[in-house]
This record gives sequence, structure tokens and C-alpha cells, in this order.
Amino acid sequence: MLSQRVKGIAPSATLAIDAKAKQLKKEGRDVVIFGAGEPDFNTPENIKLAAKKAIDNNFTRYTPVGGIPELKKAVADKLRMENNIDYDVSEILVSCGGKHSLFNIAMAVLDKGDEAILPSPYWVSYEEMIKIAEANAVFCKTDDKFKLTAKMVEEKITPKTKMLILNSPSNPSGAIVEPAEIKKIADLATEHNFYVLSDEVYEHFIYGGKEHLSIASLNAEIKNLAITSNSVSKTYAMTGWRIGYTAGPKEIIKAMDNLQSHSTSNPSSIAQYAALEALNGPQDSVKQMVHAFDERRRFIHKRLNEIDGISCVEPEGAFYAFPDISETGMSSMEFASKLLDEALVAVVPGIAFGSDRHVRLSYATSIHEIERGLDRIEKWVKQKAVRMENEEEI
Ligand SMILES: Cc1ncc(COP(=O)(O)O)c(C=O)c1O
Repeated sequence: MLSQRVKGIAPSATLAIDAKAKQLKKEGRDVVIFGAGEPDFNTPENIKLAAKKAIDNNFTRYTPVGGIPELKKAVADKLRMENNIDYDVSEILVSCGGKHSLFNIAMAVLDKGDEAILPSPYWVSYEEMIKIAEANAVFCKTDDKFKLTAKMVEEKITPKTKMLILNSPSNPSGAIVEPAEIKKIADLATEHNFYVLSDEVYEHFIYGGKEHLSIASLNAEIKNLAITSNSVSKTYAMTGWRIGYTAGPKEIIKAMDNLQSHSTSNPSSIAQYAALEALNGPQDSVKQMVHAFDERRRFIHKRLNEIDGISCVEPEGAFYAFPDISETGMSSMEFASKLLDEALVAVVPGIAFGSDRHVRLSYATSIHEIERGLDRIEKWVKQKAVRMENEEEI
């Protein structure tokens, strides 16, 4: 009796591994978990204090659907100062997390039969959101370093192309789209008249001196077609607070506001005041967190490449490593599942992100945990290789 819409949603391939890892941990087993898609840092004190104050001041009632005016202004200021994009508050909508923003965008823009170009590997929810909107995902494979070029996008454009999803830095690969390519992609979008959804949740997590570029900042033509999505979840270690925001053409924002008014209404009033402090308050915690992640990134990248049978492209951003495990002869699901069973290390199978040759490791965990986990992976892969050799000889 379920609707066709929900029947079509693929169960998350990552969920089974995650549930099992958590169960093992609960049973007291010493599992090292590389699955987390969230910073291991706590929300900074000033932000927590702002939320406590909001409660004490009784900011506990409904707010305007798309967010309190002060928060919309803070978002507009942030986008002007950090991203060089001039948005009016009427072009901004606050939602219940970045995921909710993205879902609203898909619902507001995509129709049955529309095509949305999705660079691959991709974050798992994009594909499902496109499906729920009854549109078709057109996968656009990136190169062996997960780099996306305008030429790759161009090859996928058809008269049905309604939207391209850009996610730089990327979850799961950590790759960024080079500014020169972003400029060419903007030209393609204006020439062929399609929207570009730019998911910038990892914008602050960029390493090695590279800088983030928001496509909407390039010129007025692309700003009319760009929909910029972001959230406070990753930047301020606020994943549980559920505040995301969108900036884009007024008619899209209005449609999203309308949609949101009939589903969630406003995001939590308390979390909105916390997000206001996050955006307007001191930013030192962001720098400290990014500095720590950079150290872990270099460590995990080096250690992974020292393992025979595993090779890993250096992640340029976000907090994930996406090593190629295909030389081990296992699929990503087999690798992840056996690694958990036999070595008590949880990683996410790449098949969930569109690549069965890879697994994803989040390095949003301490260097000590990373070291313990990598020691186990190294030993386990070595044992597997010896076992395979022996089996071949027999
Ligand atoms: C690429 C990407 N976009 C958006 C989100 C959504 O973040 P949130 O809904 O917590 O703001 C995530 C979370 O994992 C993500 O990886």
C-alpha cells in the first residue's frame, strides 16, 4: 500500500554497516569508526550560550517560515563578505539543515522528466532527491583524481537539462572544482539556460592554500541561475542543530518558502539564534578545526598510500579520504563488510557514492583513532593478500 514515490527510494547502503558498527560498539567491542560525516569537535561555547539565552528570553515560538530577519541578514552579510555575492534578504531562506535546503530546491526546480547532471562520485542524497522529484540523474564521471571539468559537463547537456549539481569540496572525494572550470561551467549554464545548485557546505574545509569560489559571484547572468546552498552544520560543528540556508533567485526562494510553510514551517527558533551567533560571532573555532583536519588529512593520506593494494588521491577539501581498494579484488561492500567483521574497522562502501572501487573514510576523528584504524586496515589487507596468494597456489 506504499506510494510509488517512497518505494523508489533506495535504502542507504551505508546504513547496514553503520548499524552493525554501532551495535558492536554497544556490545563493548573495540570498533574504530571512520564513518562519521560530522566534525568530532563540540559546538563552540559562544554558540551554545546564545541558544541558552534564546530559551531564557522565550524565543520559543513560531518564527517566520523562512527564518528570523536577523538571521537572513547575517546570511546575506556572510555571503557578501566571504563569498562576494550580493543577495537581498528576500533571496534567502533558512531551512532545517542543509539537507532540507537541498530537498526544497529539488522540489522547487525539478519536474518529471527533467535531467539533473550529477558529477560522480556524488553524495548519496542528491540522487535520491532527484528521484523523489521524479527527475532523472545524469551521472557525469570525474577523472581519476575526481576532478570535474566543464568539458565533462558539456558532454552531458541535453535539451532536458534543468540543473547541474556542484559540490566543491566534494563529499565523498574531497576534490574541489578548479576556479577556471567553474567559470567555464557558468558560461555553459548561461548559454544552455540551466540552474546550477552549488552545495557549499564544505567551503571552509579547503587545504593547501587553495580557495573556494562561489559560482554565483562570477556575474549577474549566472547569479540568476545559481542556487547557493549551505549550512552551519559542518563549519561550526552544529550538525544536530539543523540549520541550513539557500540563496538564489527570488521566485525560487518564494516557492521554497511556500513549500516549507506546508511541511516543517520554521526551523527551530532556538537553533536559529544559535546560528545567528555562529555567523556573527568570533570565527576562531573554524580555523582551529580546519587546522586540525589538515593535519589528520596529511596523516591519513600518507598512511593509506603506504598500504599495498590501496591508493589514495590527496583530498583537497572536506574531511574524507576516498581510497581505491579495487586492487584487493573486493567490491566496496565486501571490503567494508569484511573489514568490520574481521578487523573491527568501519568504513563506508563507495558504491553508496557511485563508485564500487572506493571506500570512504572520514578523518573527523582523533589522530590516535586514525592511527589505530590504519594499523588494523594495513594488517588486515596484508593478511587478505597472503590468503589470496595461498588460495591461488592451491
Ligand atoms: C555534500 C553535503 N551536503 C549537504 C549535507 C547536509 O548537511 P546538513 O543537513 O547537516 O546541514 C551534507 C551532510 O553530510 C553533505 O555531505
